Amino acid sequence: MKISLSKGIIIPLLILPLALGTPASIPKQEGEIVPVNDDSNTLKDTSSPGNVQDNHANGNGNANDNDNTKVQKHESEPESEPEPKSKPESKAKANEDESQKEDTKPKSKLPPSLNIENFDAITSEKLSFVEFYSPYCHHCKALAPIWEQAYLEFEEEAKSLNIQMRQVNCVENGDLCGREDISYFPYLRLYAPERDVKTGQIIPGKSKFVDTFPRSLVRTSENFKKYLRKSVAEYDDGTIDMPSSSKLLDTDEMLNILAGSKEEVYFVSFFPATDEQYLKVDSTKKNHFSKCNDCFEYKQIWDRLSNHLQIIAKTGHFNCQSNPTLCKELQLTELTTPGVRATPKFAVFLPKSTGRIRFDYKGEVSIDKMKQWIVRLFQNSQYEKITARTLGDVMSFRKSLPNEPLDSYYPLENKISVIFYFDETTVSDEDKAILPYLLDYVTYSPFNMYLYTATHSQIEKGVLSQAENLINYVNYDPNEPRQRFHVENYLSTTLTAKPTILIFKDNTLITNVYQNFAPEDMRDYKKISKFISDSQYPLYQELTPELIPYYFNTDILDKRNEKVVVTFIDSTDASKLNIALYNMSLAAHEYHHLKKQYYFNKLSFSREEKEARVEKLKHQNADSIEVIKELRREIPHLFNYNQVLFTFIDLSKKDQFEHAYKWKIDPDDYKVGDTIVITKDNRYYWDQAIDGSQLTNNPSVIKPLLLSLLDNSLVTTQNHAITKLVGSPYGSKLRFMDKIHDRGVIGYIGLFGFIYLMYIVIIRLSKKKRLFKSKSSGSASGYGIIGNVQKKEKD
Ligand SMILES: *[C@@H]1O[C@H](CO)[C@@H](O)[C@H](O)[C@H]1NC(C)=O
Repeated sequence: MKISLSKGIIIPLLILPLALGTPASIPKQEGEIVPVNDDSNTLKDTSSPGNVQDNHANGNGNANDNDNTKVQKHESEPESEPEPKSKPESKAKANEDESQKEDTKPKSKLPPSLNIENFDAITSEKLSFVEFYSPYCHHCKALAPIWEQAYLEFEEEAKSLNIQMRQVNCVENGDLCGREDISYFPYLRLYAPERDVKTGQIIPGKSKFVDTFPRSLVRTSENFKKYLRKSVAEYDDGTIDMPSSSKLLDTDEMLNILAGSKEEVYFVSFFPATDEQYLKVDSTKKNHFSKCNDCFEYKQIWDRLSNHLQIIAKTGHFNCQSNPTLCKELQLTELTTPGVRATPKFAVFLPKSTGRIRFDYKGEVSIDKMKQWIVRLFQNSQYEKITARTLGDVMSFRKSLPNEPLDSYYPLENKISVIFYFDETTVSDEDKAILPYLLDYVTYSPFNMYLYTATHSQIEKGVLSQAENLINYVNYDPNEPRQRFHVENYLSTTLTAKPTILIFKDNTLITNVYQNFAPEDMRDYKKISKFISDSQYPLYQELTPELIPYYFNTDILDKRNEKVVVTFIDSTDASKLNIALYNMSLAAHEYHHLKKQYYFNKLSFSREEKEARVEKLKHQNADSIEVIKELRREIPHLFNYNQVLFTFIDLSKKDQFEHAYKWKIDPDDYKVGDTIVITKDNRYYWDQAIDGSQLTNNPSVIKPLLLSLLDNSLVTTQNHAITKLVGSPYGSKLRFMDKIHDRGVIGYIGLFGFIYLMYIVIIRLSKKKRLFKSKSSGSASGYGIIGNVQKKEKD
């Protein structure tokens, strides 16, 4: 086995004891509130790090249900029953000349609502983006001005592109909405004129529902316009009109796919339906699925997706109610029973040469998201071999960073490259067995992660250059003490044998190295999975509601030491954005460096002891691997402690946080440029700098705060960071109440118990006083218990 990532490695090995030592006790943070009871805040459905993937967008249509007012039917009524009907009609009539009607219709320049008489005729003329709404639904009202703005801004372009935006008021047109199977409001759908399959001619009076505005896309005027342009492009190149490329699969064919004996990649949809139902939907373009709210919509998406994927994958659909036995074996039992509510499922099957065949899709059901996912999976399953040069082609790999803002393109791509780095001459098949596992971890990461293999030794030189250049980068402030490069410190986190795993990230000088000290390290899939899930975070990443469970996590205890820095930015101001990202980059690199230095120094204190042990081993003539093994046992995982992740929230999209799961910080309390630090368990936060001022996205303000949270003795000032409780109902005046609130019910019981006790004591004391008084006055005047008793006795 060859040891790598340093030049003459065996000698540095002997310096290694410097880097190693018994885990020094972690300093307790000053000003920290100690939790008594942690269970009040458990994030139940956070996925485990190894199996990272969307925990809520599991394809049952609830992906963003905070955005949609579901029509009652979803909850209780049988599905086949048509919609809102004209239920609230009388109410609608009553309200006719009032509020909603008035401000959306007569004043607006929007065309009138479509109805059952004209719907088919109008939507068969051209591509139509239709909003089905109810004037009473909260989200519809919120959407109304946005819809109107998009309509007005796009009016001219829409004419030239031959597309239209129309609305259907479902309260007035319950019959139409029932027929169109509208299951929630507002429901944004794309309809296209139907064409004759043979002649390609438009069939007058016939249109078909082809797509749904992606649920994950924020409904802004800009996004509507983008969606309309994209739809036209697809319509014009005929993609929308193409009949689905998805093939009906039978049990035999499915068995072949499952066995991985196909050469091609297969993307398969599993429907809770029979082949007959599926065919009927195909031929009539109407919903004939039963007990499945999402089937009809998902089928439209699936049909179009199948045409997008033709180059990389074959697509097929498999109806579980026609093939129940196989579906049960595939653990899709819920799809096999008619009359049971179920949602279609999707999975990719790779050829068995890849080492792993089945990959379930767990994200949002939309053309873009699914396409992105399978394209990435397909690419990763090639285990593409790259060199130091091509690494720069596939990502924004940096050996050094300039001390000035980069030209960033927003939204950031934030590519993460996971590289299986090995030596051709020594690698074994057993070593390579890790690849399918890596593929699995990478596939289910919520980040933009790619998998490669490499043997080129320039790659490890790149890691060394990064570490050297990091020092120049963090020496940005001439007034601060200069940092220096220490090779021992460098080796303490990069020393490894080949094969190993390297994780490079866009625009950073920090590369994560899996430290392989012994053959079993590359077989320890649990440890490797943890390494990847810990290292998957980009250096600075936009925080979106979907990512909240990956940044904040109460599953694992002792997340107190880990923190997330959140800076507020405005993506519409491009010039400031680049500076803001630069500031974040500096703060993140600097903290990383200082923390590592801090632990390294701590460990160095016990180095004599360690050196003695290594000496002993050497005398016993143990070979170098044994020496590392011995040391490895001593390597504390300290360098992973006190991890701080850097994120930002785009205030121009703050609305998406309004109902975000488990999110309690109100973005309205902060302005562009403000920063807050939150513990990873999402219980405590700091929004004030050490000097008490508002914390801002300025590395020289963030640094002292983070250092003081790491170890208060690292900062010279007398001040302490002020810890606040996330979601506390108390303001700054009653901050002490946070400590009570933090303990939940027990805290309040304690508080009230205490108040009650005090009350008793005061009463007692005052009575005693009075008693003394009355006694000293010499008369039992009827005050106090004894007095009464005496009185009573007299009576
Ligand atoms: C970036 O940090 C500098 C100090 O280094 C500060 O003056 C500036 O306001 C910060 N800029 C942004 C956009 O946050």
